[in-house]
Amino acid sequence: IPVISCLLPAIRDRLAAPIWKLLQLAATEAQKRGWHLYVVGGAVRDLLLTETQDILLVQDIDLVVDGFHNSVEVGAGVELALIIQKMFPNARLSVHGEFQTAALLWHKDPELGSLWIDIATSRTEFYPYPAANPEVEASSIRQDLYRRDFTINALAVRLTPPREGELLDFFGGMIDLRSRQIRVLHANSFIEDPTRIYRAVRFAVRLNFELEPQTEDYIRYAIDSGIYERLRLENHPTPALTTRLKAELKYILDSHYWQPALKLLAHLDALHCLHSEIVLDESSWWQIRCISRWLQYLDPYNQLEHWLIRLEILIAQLNEEERTKIAHNLNLPKESIERLKLITKIESEVKDKLLNCDRLSHIFRVLHPYKFSNLILVGVRSPKKIRRLIWQYLTKWSKIQAPLTGDDLKAMGYKPGPKYKQVLDQLLTKTLDGDIKTREEAEVFVKQMMIEQG
Ligand code: CTP
Repeated sequence: IPVISCLLPAIRDRLAAPIWKLLQLAATEAQKRGWHLYVVGGAVRDLLLTETQDILLVQDIDLVVDGFHNSVEVGAGVELALIIQKMFPNARLSVHGEFQTAALLWHKDPELGSLWIDIATSRTEFYPYPAANPEVEASSIRQDLYRRDFTINALAVRLTPPREGELLDFFGGMIDLRSRQIRVLHANSFIEDPTRIYRAVRFAVRLNFELEPQTEDYIRYAIDSGIYERLRLENHPTPALTTRLKAELKYILDSHYWQPALKLLAHLDALHCLHSEIVLDESSWWQIRCISRWLQYLDPYNQLEHWLIRLEILIAQLNEEERTKIAHNLNLPKESIERLKLITKIESEVKDKLLNCDRLSHIFRVLHPYKFSNLILVGVRSPKKIRRLIWQYLTKWSKIQAPLTGDDLKAMGYKPGPKYKQVLDQLLTKTLDGDIKTREEAEVFVKQMMIEQG
């Protein structure tokens, strides 16, 4: 990472031209009003981190506006967002939070692509000083950055003059980028926001960084001191925290680096935030990798949400009552709650029956009533013999069909009626067991059955 005094050329050259143009327009508008505008967070980090000169693919930009503003109802950030939206009518604007953060969203815009820009207002506007006062300005943006999670995410680049393009690095973010460390800004960071433990793991694994030893100690301290009591999903989680925790879990379990990330979470005992009894022991580690392979094969187009099923297999370690509680608290989708609830029932229903089957048609009838996704969970958790039968069923046997359909029976001259189902069922049984292999054999069988039954 080079030593950079002015980052403006780097931003200009590395961002897609329409995004750069938008940032310039925003900076001009901010400047006109005597405000300062900064780009902060992930975009700065990624810009400094990638060594190639390729265009950086950013879909998410965080801006901070710092400026005195007359209105108490609308912060400078929201006002700037409104001004940008006037220039880009394609953008959708939403305003949220008590600090009046605005988000501008473009969805598959022909120029900007899909882009999300968050615009926050830093604190100066609450003080009766003009933002041009450099001391106030510095303390205001510093405060904003100090609230953030890690030093590498607390870097800012000023977009407005004077000194536009200057990198603001109050907390040693550049040193940590160079030495590839994830470091929190203060000892209480994880206590204040326990989801940062998940973020620390996510960034460490994704960027191939290390958790700085002191930061790792803070994580362990936070976990040991029982932060999860507050977060503990089996008790009374606050909805906002739960939503953010779920988002972090999804982020991790959906990523291509989910395996090392999960290992690191377990190493830090951070899976306890779900439940104190959820562990990544040999068996659950095997199951979660096995289910991922099954899903890759059985659901290559991701119709089932694989991250969710991975989460379910972790939760499935608990007893039925606890599983359901967690699933509700995490606000998991209906199907997911249902799957977790049904595991024990299905397991007990299929186990003995499957072991006593001596024909393929029997196995088929035992497993046929259940959804694929339920069987995937049950299969992976079952002993080898049952697991193999369920795998064969999911990959092969469930696809076997009788050589004739209802339409064929009609074409053969039989009047539609309840008998159809009976005949077709019998036909499928014979086909599964290998007694009928061809269409001709099937037709002979149907004729015989119809005669026998009058
Ligand atoms: N942030 C934080 N604490 C959190 C979540 C976010 O301090 N619990 C701050 C960080 O400074 C982060 C910024 O908000 O850089 C934006 O958050 P987000 O978009 O989630 O992270 P990015 O850094 O943009 O990471 P990514 O590249 O994964 O989107």
